[in-house]
Amino acid sequence: MERNKWKRPSNIDKFRKMNELSVEHLLGIKYLTAEDISLIFKMADNFKKIINQPIKKVPSLRDITVANLFFENSTRTKLSFELAEKRLSADVVNFSSAASSVKKGETLIDTVNNIIAMKVDMVVVRHPNPGASVFLSRNIDAKIVNAGDGTHEHPTQALLDAYSIREKYGEVKGKKVVIIGDILHSRVALSNIYCLQKLGAEVSVCGPSTLMPKYISTLGVKHINNLKDALNWCDIANVLRIQLERQDVKYFPSLREYAMVFGINKEILSGLNKEITIMHPGPINRGVELTSDVADSGQAIILNQVENGVAIRMAVLYLLAGKVKKNGE
Ligand code: CP
Repeated sequence: MERNKWKRPSNIDKFRKMNELSVEHLLGIKYLTAEDISLIFKMADNFKKIINQPIKKVPSLRDITVANLFFENSTRTKLSFELAEKRLSADVVNFSSAASSVKKGETLIDTVNNIIAMKVDMVVVRHPNPGASVFLSRNIDAKIVNAGDGTHEHPTQALLDAYSIREKYGEVKGKKVVIIGDILHSRVALSNIYCLQKLGAEVSVCGPSTLMPKYISTLGVKHINNLKDALNWCDIANVLRIQLERQDVKYFPSLREYAMVFGINKEILSGLNKEITIMHPGPINRGVELTSDVADSGQAIILNQVENGVAIRMAVLYLLAGKVKKNGE
């Protein structure tokens, strides 16, 4: 009779599993486990210490080449990834579609294959089409990091948001987070919902009904219609921009009226029964979703989020680089 071939995992296997991501690419928070997120946070804690030292660089990615492919505008994410890669001593090449042969009709797969032929190990990609990074991961021999794909996911933004909550409150579990604004067009909202729920937070959304996806209740989040009710319910408000560039029809009468009903100002915050934390992924439309006196106040942790973005992206790149196969391996 065939003997049972199962072997008890060794301590080395267990250690490796605890220090490795369960995924080969970072395509979305949907594909991560809570353990993956905790591992990324643990690594980010180490990298945050390093980037606050006088010498901010470590040699961890010295033999790795990363291409940053941005087919859509970005300030924070692009700079943050580039800094993270340079702090880890990777070789970095940057591509922006506006100045590339994409304008001459080249396909996404041809563009990326040409870049990979130049021996690139990892690709960070931002693209206007949902699913672009999943498509690349199936067709390209490199580790793919999604830096935002259309209205789908923005996983490193959600990771840095949850990490900033953990930094302020000690843990994410049990916190009440309301995401306010244009949920329908927001990849930040979807990634945040997945990430916060995996870490045990309670999530609600608030905004005009026309900017709520029909499937929102299936994600286990509550829609609170009234801004003041939402702010009184939450510990943290993550405020989103109205994404006019993704709107082909009018979802509300005017930005002025949106600001009157869903804009957060000092007066609303001082009328609440507690002090809440204000977050925003940026870019902010000052005077629309947030007034300047709120965005620049001690209640806002917007620049802490940006700072944490570098440490989170270093952690993600470091963990995925460990899975890159080099010649002869
Ligand atoms: N939060 C964010 O994705 O900002 P950018 O579009 O500037 O990268």
